[in-house]
Amino acid sequence: MIRGKGAGLAASRILIAGGAGFIGSALTREMMANSDARVLVIDSLTYATSPAALGAVRADPRFAFVQGGISDAALVRSTIEGFAPDVIINLAAESHVDRSIDGPGPFVDSNIVGVFVLLQAALDHWRGLTGMAAEAFRFHQVSTDEVFGSLGPTGAFDETTRYDPRSPYSATKAAGDHLVRAWGHTYGLPVLVTNCSNNYGPFQFPEKLIPLTILRALGGQSLPVYGDGLHVRDWLHVDDHVRGLRAAFEQGTPGETYVFGGGAERTNVDLVRTICAALDDLAPRPDGRPHAEAITHVEDRPGHDRRYAVDPSKARAELNWSPQVGFEQGIRETVAWYLERRDWWQAILADRDAVARRGLAGG
Ligand SMILES: NC(=O)c1ccc[n+]([C@@H]2O[C@H](COP(=O)([O-])OP(=O)(O)OC[C@H]3O[C@@H](n4cnc5c(N)ncnc54)[C@H](O)[C@@H]3O)[C@@H](O)[C@H]2O)c1
Repeated sequence: MIRGKGAGLAASRILIAGGAGFIGSALTREMMANSDARVLVIDSLTYATSPAALGAVRADPRFAFVQGGISDAALVRSTIEGFAPDVIINLAAESHVDRSIDGPGPFVDSNIVGVFVLLQAALDHWRGLTGMAAEAFRFHQVSTDEVFGSLGPTGAFDETTRYDPRSPYSATKAAGDHLVRAWGHTYGLPVLVTNCSNNYGPFQFPEKLIPLTILRALGGQSLPVYGDGLHVRDWLHVDDHVRGLRAAFEQGTPGETYVFGGGAERTNVDLVRTICAALDDLAPRPDGRPHAEAITHVEDRPGHDRRYAVDPSKARAELNWSPQVGFEQGIRETVAWYLERRDWWQAILADRDAVARRGLAGG
């Protein structure tokens, strides 16, 4: 078993809330492939989920799955009591900004009430532990850089940046993070919060910008870019995020925050052009024209944050973490993955309208 400087022991029983989602399933696959941990996933299997993303791990005797919502107090309590985790990591959330504009209710339920319910059950569980088990326990809240608001042309968010959320999504994530820190400060629960920039990679639900662009291009559709396309995001491959999460709950210091970013700031229109270039190579248009010709500027998202950027110096120094996947290479591999896994996304598109425009605030 790996020893870490913070937790003492690497997790042997890890409860992953939201472990059937994009990032949660990548963490689950990592823990099953590269640790001895027993993993229990609790996930309500919303529209955004894909049990297929858990793949072969579902048959592994070290893996268990509970279907249900994290705001269901009785279920959460009995699941935690029955499994007795060393680490609870929360990735269960409503996660799409555009949907939060159209319907914020589920975001309040999952991202705020759900966090409260998880914290209460975790606190009771932790209070029942003694000795090393109590010392090693961690409650890890996975959050986003969107809680920090919007940057001007320069500067970057870090662990000291004040929260200034602007969308219903980021406001609910911020509220959840505040609850987690309050349970750490007030009750002594050993909590960690990590805030990460935009992720991309395999199994991302088709409504998010990168898969949406790939799938619309393959379908011969227009490639929508919101507003002038000059909004800047810092992109990180999901595998790098998972490495950071694992480093945080295995080695991080309770009560601390760590931010993760890819050092890959791109405007949205540049990102779409990078995807188009990869597609020109890997899946040329039948007419031989460049995919980028299909880029269309559409009405902007209401309240669209202009720029996010992250300074992950603390994670580098204290967790020995740094991104391993270069942006162009990661995008190319992601495009190749979506080309190979047509079975996965075609089944989703056949079932749900995942590439429709959302989030125009009643427009
Ligand atoms: N995707 C990103 O770029 C990004 C970046 C930084 C942080 N995050 C955070 O990481 C976490 C995971 O994001 P993701 O992109 O994997 O999202 P996702 O939407 O792909 O997955 C979320 C998962 O949570 C589940 N879920 C939702 N509400 C639930 C509830 N009430 N109870 C139980 N399960 C529930 C869903 O079924 C889904 O499987 C979120 O907290 C998000 O805020 C995401």
